[in-house]
Amino acid sequence: MSTQTAVRARRPTQQTDAFAADVIAGLSAKPKYLPPKYFYDLAGSALFERITRLPEYYPTRSELGILDKHAPAIASLFPPGCALLEFGAGASTKARIVLRAAASVEAYVPIDISGDFLQQDAARLRRDFPHLAIHPVVADFTTMVEPPLETAAKPRAGFFPGSTIGNFEPHEAAGFLRRAGRILGPGAVFIVGVDLTKAPDILYRAYNDAEGVTAKFNLNLLARINRELGANFDLEAFEHHAFYNAERSRIEMHLASTKRQKVRICDTTIDFRAGETIHTENSYKYSIQSFQALAHGSGWSPLNAWTDGLFSVHALRMAVD
Ligand SMILES: C[S@@+](CC[C@H](N)C(=O)[O-])C[C@H]1O[C@@H](n2cnc3c(N)ncnc32)[C@H](O)[C@@H]1O
Repeated sequence: MSTQTAVRARRPTQQTDAFAADVIAGLSAKPKYLPPKYFYDLAGSALFERITRLPEYYPTRSELGILDKHAPAIASLFPPGCALLEFGAGASTKARIVLRAAASVEAYVPIDISGDFLQQDAARLRRDFPHLAIHPVVADFTTMVEPPLETAAKPRAGFFPGSTIGNFEPHEAAGFLRRAGRILGPGAVFIVGVDLTKAPDILYRAYNDAEGVTAKFNLNLLARINRELGANFDLEAFEHHAFYNAERSRIEMHLASTKRQKVRICDTTIDFRAGETIHTENSYKYSIQSFQALAHGSGWSPLNAWTDGLFSVHALRMAVD
């Protein structure tokens, strides 16, 4: 039976076919990798929300503090009657702070790949912000996202918190920023949250929490492959590894095979050596200046950057040509 047939027998969607193809390509590569966007099914999004509340995970607390303090200044940059597009909205916790301060926003467009989680959150947003038009979009922001037709006539502003930009390789981050510029349009303001380089022990603890929630989040990727593609990963035979790669200014997350083993996915068998890892995510860390240089090279003019020393929130403006 071909890979495609095996996958269709389980759940006949184009997304599942693409998921299977990406998983098999990543696990057949040397070294093995999996794209981090697949962390986020309903279970993965809920685990990420738990991570944001962990004592060791400073980025969310820091960014919430910065947004609380500077929400009026951020809101003052948005044009009247605008649509605010958030890329990778998750639970929209940070957008809520900005939306409360920004009377100029008429429509909020949370964009996320985690469709079920996004729809649940949209229902809560409609209840909490009855005066706002809420238009959730289930989409992959590594491709060109079409904003909803209902917002076509409105000026646009963008929001990309959570240092999700750090999950891209720097050249991919530049590509994303250029694409976001085309989506948001000339003169648009883009608010981007970016984690800062800092002492490696603080970074290490943030991705190796004592409760093991980050390990569960990482391992959920294998559980998801089992659930959706009928694979037979033994979750007990893989462990979470996260460490700071100082040369590349990034935290790397891996899943390490604790023994020599074979895993069956669709009609493909993947061999693992003892200790071999699957590279599941990078979280690049920037300085204020290095991020501003990246944004500038991608067509954005830095307007402002707010920081508490651990995390930064940038305001950028797209050139009017
Ligand atoms: C690091 S979390 C940040 C969530 C939230 N913005 C925050 O700041 O807490 C990344 C979010 O981006 C979404 N995401 C990841 N890759 C994506 C992709 N390629 N396209 C769309 N959404 C994606 C995830 O589902 C998740 O909600």
